[in-house]
Amino acid sequence: MRTAVCPGSFDPVTNGHLDIIERAAQIFDRLYVAVFTNSGKEPLFTLEERLAMLKTAARDLPNVIIESSDGLLLDYCRQHGANVIVKGLRAVSDYEYEFRMAMMNRKLDERVETVFLMSRVEYSYLSSSILKDVARFGGSIEGLVPPEVEVALKKRIEERVKGK
Ligand code: PNS
Repeated sequence: MRTAVCPGSFDPVTNGHLDIIERAAQIFDRLYVAVFTNSGKEPLFTLEERLAMLKTAARDLPNVIIESSDGLLLDYCRQHGANVIVKGLRAVSDYEYEFRMAMMNRKLDERVETVFLMSRVEYSYLSSSILKDVARFGGSIEGLVPPEVEVALKKRIEERVKGK
């Protein structure tokens, strides 16, 4: 069985992430989508909230398993019998960051290969950070995230404005 892990911080999941997940789910027999803590980012949503949003968004993909982890990605891959890490690649600007992570993961375990799927052109500019910024200032994010994420994002931003 070909098993892969698609990791990320998914804060929150976007339609760009979902496109990569759907396409990876067609290539691999089993795809674990793992929500991690990225030590370089301050999340807007808790790990549990991010997990719940992903589970709803990917509910129709039978070979996709959504989990969270607070450990090392490589350990997660080993524990789940996965020898492939799948990541989406948007613009050239992603390359250096992704290259460093892929090289480090290879250094940790060279049996685990990182493969990249090119994002669709319509999502190539999309990131959770940009979305949060647009939503924060009242811009429309319709069509860029699943409907339930749009609602959750607006609610969280309102809470933050009110100081909750
Ligand atoms: O969506 P992101 O924030 O770009 O994803 C980054 C992520 C979560 C894949 C990365 O931070 C990660 O792998 N975190 C788990 C801890 C780990 O293994 N760190 C070393 C990566 S080389």
